[in-house]
Parts: sequence; structure tokens; C-alpha cells
Amino acid sequence: MNEIISIEDLTFSYNKNPVLKNISLQINEGESIGILGPNGSGKTTLLKLISGILSGYSGKIKIFGKNINKFSRKELSQTISYIPQNLNINFDLLVETIVSFGRNPYIGLFKGLKKNDYIRIHNAMKEAEITHLKDRIFNTLSGGEKQRTSVAKSLAQDGKILLLDEFVTHLDPGHAQKILSLTKKLIEERHMTSIGVFHDINRAINICHKLVFLKEGKIQEKIKPENISESLLKDIYEIQIKIIDNPYTGKPYVITK
Ligand SMILES: Nc1ncnc2c1ncn2[C@@H]1O[C@H](COP(=O)(O)OP(=O)(O)O)[C@@H](O)[C@H]1O
Ligand SMILES: [Mg+2]
Repeated sequence: MNEIISIEDLTFSYNKNPVLKNISLQINEGESIGILGPNGSGKTTLLKLISGILSGYSGKIKIFGKNINKFSRKELSQTISYIPQNLNINFDLLVETIVSFGRNPYIGLFKGLKKNDYIRIHNAMKEAEITHLKDRIFNTLSGGEKQRTSVAKSLAQDGKILLLDEFVTHLDPGHAQKILSLTKKLIEERHMTSIGVFHDINRAINICHKLVFLKEGKIQEKIKPENISESLLKDIYEIQIKIIDNPYTGKPYVITK
């Protein structure tokens, strides 16, 4: 299996306050990794470091065997897409324009979009099922439509790695489920590798190959979803938790009082 992301002994502080401590993690091609842990445990910070949004860490982060310090900004954004919890746009931009931003890492200085870029933008909108929304103002969309636009932008970006930060947390269960299934399908079709931060443990169990539990900036456990245990979850979240079999999937299902 090809190793796509390799993190070795990563430590990071905001203003001398350590937030991630000695993180080591290897992720192979095609894997979907779920990052879980209480609020403030460093999940978002980890995604921002991998995507190159944050720097000033100690340790190593390698993508395709190459240290991310050695990537140009453009090269990095051709490789990694980061979908935040909420995409905030301060202007009245059309959905199609937002999706077209996914092509920015490929456009030369003072050059516009080419035919090939438009083809990719339209295909991405089709795959994310937002073609009918292309002339709408992004800020007027529903939460689910906004997240599908984010997915389309990432598809247009054509990277191999997708980072998703709690990207369905604010959606109702029906939309969350639909968008996650669609995203999972697109990730698989495009042989992408993904790291998702999850608020909901059961969703992570359903769609991830491996789960990484963070607590107070340290990795507490890396396991396959089927090996999740009540004692681990009790340690991480400090509440009483029971695990039952999910009657739909046969996978573990976590319930709280
Ligand atoms: N820009 C920042 N400046 C200072 N501290 C920050 C900043 N962003 C996050 N933190 C702190 O870092 C810790 C981890 O935050 P974060 O990575 O957002 O956690 P999570 O995503 O797991 O909730 C928290 O204690 C948070 O307050
Ligand atoms: Mg976060």
C-alpha cells in the first residue's frame, strides 16, 4: 500500500501553549481516516497543519514522501483540499464562481480559465449534484447546498487528499447522511485519501477505515471502527457509554444515557 501522508512526532503550540504533542500517523492511499475527540483536543489544528494553513511546528509532515515545507503553495493546493466546517464568503458570489476557485492552483499569473478548467468545473458541479444551483448566490443556499458546493470546489481542485472538518455537524440527520454518502462515493471513485474530523462517533464508525482519538493534544488510540470499546470512549469523553450492534450495518453503535 502506498503511504500518502506521514506525520512523525508532530508538536505544535499557539503562543507557547502546546496544542498537539508528539503526533505520529501514517495514512495509506485510499484510506478514510476519522479524527475524533472532545472539543479543544486539537483536531482542527491537526487538519490545518496538514493542509499547510498553519506552520511553525516541530516534527515532520510528509505528503507522497516529500516534506510539506518543500511544496510550493500552488503545489500543495493542487494536492490537498480542505473543507472547513462552514465556508464563509463575504461577497455575493455565484455558486459556479465558488466552484471555479477550485481551479486557482492551476491558473498561471494573469491567465484565465481554459476550456479544460471549465470542463472540470462543470463535471464537479454535476458530480456534487449542484448544477441546478450554479447561478444562485452562494450565501442564499441552505447548509446542505453550501456543503455540496464546497465538495464541488474540492473536486474541481482535483487533489488526491481531502480534509473535512466536521462538515456535516450543522446539518439535519437526513441531509448529513445524504451528503456523507455522496462524498464517500466521490472519494472512492476518484481514489482519494481523506481525513475527516467527526463530531458524531457513529457516523465515523460507518464511513471510516480507521479512527484516531485525540485527547488534550495527544493520540490516545488508533483503531479500526470494529475494535472500538466502551472503556476507550469513557476515557476519551468521560461519560458513561454503551456499545450495541447497529442493526442496519452490524457495526458498533454508540449510545449514551
Ligand atoms: N488561533 C488560535 N490561537 C490560540 N489558541 C487556539 C487557536 N486556535 C485554537 N486554539 C486552541 O487550541 C486548542 C485546540 O483547538 P482546535 O484544534 O480548534 O480543537 P478541536 O478542533 O479539537 O475542537 C484549543 O484549546 C483552542 O482554544
Ligand atoms: Mg475543531
